[in-house]
Amino acid sequence: MAVEITSPNGNMVLNFTLDQGRPTYTLSYKGKVVVRPSHLGLELAKDKHASLGLDEDDLMEGFQVVDTKTSEFDETWKPVWGESSTIQNHYNELAVTLVRHFDRPKYTGNGMSPGTFLKGYERRIIIRFRVYDDGIGFRYEFPQQEDLNYFLIKEEHSEFAMAGDHTAWWLPGDYDTQEQETQQTKLSEIRGQMSKAVNWGNSSVAVFSPTGVQTSLQMKTADGLYINIHEAACADYATMHLELVDAETKELTTRLNGNSNTYTPNPKPSHYSLPKPFTFVSHLTPDATGLKGAMQTPCETPWRTIMVSDDARDMLSSNLILNLNEPCKLEDTSWIHPTKYCGVWWEMIVGKSTWNYTDQFPSIKLGGDVFPNSQLSIINYQLAKPNGRHAANNEKVKRYIDFAAKNGLDQVLVEGWNVGWEDWANMWKRDVFDFQTPYPDFDIKMLNDYAHSKGVKLLMHHETSSSTQNYERHLEAAFNLMNKYGYDAVKTGYVGDIIPRGDHHYSQSMNNHYLYVVKEAAKHHIMVNAHEATRPTGLCRTYPNLVGNESARGTEYEAFGGSRPDHTCILPFTRLQGGPMDYTPGIFVTKLSEWSQNTSWARITIAGSLALYLTMYSPLQMAADLPEHYEKFDDAFQFIRDVACDWDQSIYLEAEPADYITVARKAKGTQNWFIGGKCDENGHKTNIKLDFLEKGRKYNCTIYADAPNAHYETNPQAYVISKRVVKRGDTLKLQEAPGGGFAVSLIAQ
Ligand code: NOJ
Ligand code: CA
Repeated sequence: MAVEITSPNGNMVLNFTLDQGRPTYTLSYKGKVVVRPSHLGLELAKDKHASLGLDEDDLMEGFQVVDTKTSEFDETWKPVWGESSTIQNHYNELAVTLVRHFDRPKYTGNGMSPGTFLKGYERRIIIRFRVYDDGIGFRYEFPQQEDLNYFLIKEEHSEFAMAGDHTAWWLPGDYDTQEQETQQTKLSEIRGQMSKAVNWGNSSVAVFSPTGVQTSLQMKTADGLYINIHEAACADYATMHLELVDAETKELTTRLNGNSNTYTPNPKPSHYSLPKPFTFVSHLTPDATGLKGAMQTPCETPWRTIMVSDDARDMLSSNLILNLNEPCKLEDTSWIHPTKYCGVWWEMIVGKSTWNYTDQFPSIKLGGDVFPNSQLSIINYQLAKPNGRHAANNEKVKRYIDFAAKNGLDQVLVEGWNVGWEDWANMWKRDVFDFQTPYPDFDIKMLNDYAHSKGVKLLMHHETSSSTQNYERHLEAAFNLMNKYGYDAVKTGYVGDIIPRGDHHYSQSMNNHYLYVVKEAAKHHIMVNAHEATRPTGLCRTYPNLVGNESARGTEYEAFGGSRPDHTCILPFTRLQGGPMDYTPGIFVTKLSEWSQNTSWARITIAGSLALYLTMYSPLQMAADLPEHYEKFDDAFQFIRDVACDWDQSIYLEAEPADYITVARKAKGTQNWFIGGKCDENGHKTNIKLDFLEKGRKYNCTIYADAPNAHYETNPQAYVISKRVVKRGDTLKLQEAPGGGFAVSLIAQ
């Protein structure tokens, strides 16, 4: 039996069949093979299972098709915020119901009472495919049934067999960090490049395979097809990595019951035969037990997504991942809003000032509620000696509030406002913060009142230090405190190894934690921007108070040695596929040694920095540099004052991964357009035809361009601002410097 289903325009063709009882699919685009025959299935944990009295069997082979259903769906929906104000969700669907019969007897006892032997049993799963014009999604569904209620996942074996040795933009697969530089290699070169690619310096690193990579994985074929593999709606499930089978692969790295506190060099292999080289196989993030998922039916996996096009711009404009997520579950979203902010932040990252208040003690203990006997060593900050470098002090925060008010920024992030930063990271310290007690020099009431009197809000910061139980037990009180003082957004953080120890940042249990925080925040009308959390998979459609994530290498790395100039020309193809990134752009004084002891420097020009407010889409945008640096370049800062962060329409004008991206966006509810172009270290020439402007209307156009001699390394602050009046049909000719870019505002007359 074989079933074929095509996308609405017929370009994408998906075939499903059984290969000796194993579910198998293939995918082609405009007649070209994208995915060669690839198996689907899940391997279950046999020696440790939750199904009382049930012998565990894999959901890999021995299946029969008992039903196939096809249907068409076409709907247009409106996101609360986004790159466009309406999104079409149009696909053809195929749902295949598979049954596996087991002849051998099944024991029904539960170990407590004598059981009986049944004669045999069966298990039923559904594999659902949605085929769009720009890609596909598929997932496994597990209906509730007599013999499949609780099960533990050893590994998901979803294969993605590539048709050749494509170019790939990849990050090392890692259970705990996504903060690496992207590698650009052929698939066959991944193994050789792996150890160089790992960010060994990160505070939590757990790589698992010499060919393991992360999603979203962007590829390009020799004949010009762009292919992207990621996932959508990852909830109550572990984050997926991909393990490449290459010529040297002997076995897949499937871990079970290993001690996951440390890298397991000899994981237990799966007994299933290896697919052919250039096949990616899913590899889920384990929890502290080494297992990959604890499931209760009815349930389903996230969608596995494959985007395909012969035009790179389609990779950026695709809404496939949002479309595969559930509609908004929040009844009232009126309190969710796009936000531009600055913050007491960059100077700490650079090392000029500190999050902590005192340097007096070798370590500190907070509170007394958990271990009453330790009362004597509990720190009294009122008596502690200040280190004189604590940034989150009343005077400085007021200065930032004044700056935000003067420049139309909505909020001011303040990090290091709360007690506990003296020994917060990498200690595996459980009671690290309480998220409620300010340092003595941070007057929370006065500062919020002061901000509100100027039309500005403070933006809360909760660094959890990855001590998740500690955060959960303080969460309600912490959110109440935010409500009391008028905060409506929180930046959370998960630096360091996870507590409970042995768990990983991207496991099922941690993914549940992140979503729990988002849902609890919604009850308090709080927007969430989570750093170091799992890479997003479009859940912001369902919970639009998830307004941002970092979950990749952000601007902070410009202070930790720097990122390559092409970094921001890759992220929109990869990290941003699942949702916006709090990239924290806007560094104007790129040579940090000009104002600090830090010798690192940001590999970008000022005009390039302005471009990021367009090319790195986010409803939450930071102006990350110091107020005094912006004051020096106030004419360039005008663009950051003007630029919108919520859009009616976005048009990707040109794009090539790791080379350049140019996008035009129409500000929501206005006739104003903004255009941004960002390029790599080679520079880029662009001609922009303004054929998207409204006919008959004139626009005041301001162009923020790299000066002819600008260069990200030698001359990053050379820019030229020019003004003119333009109309539909006019052309803008622009030259982007190496590591540079441009920004344009078009204000309708
Ligand atoms: C890492 C975050 O990415 C950064 O923005 C933050 O300042 C530090 N953690 C401290 O929470
Ligand atoms: Ca390049």
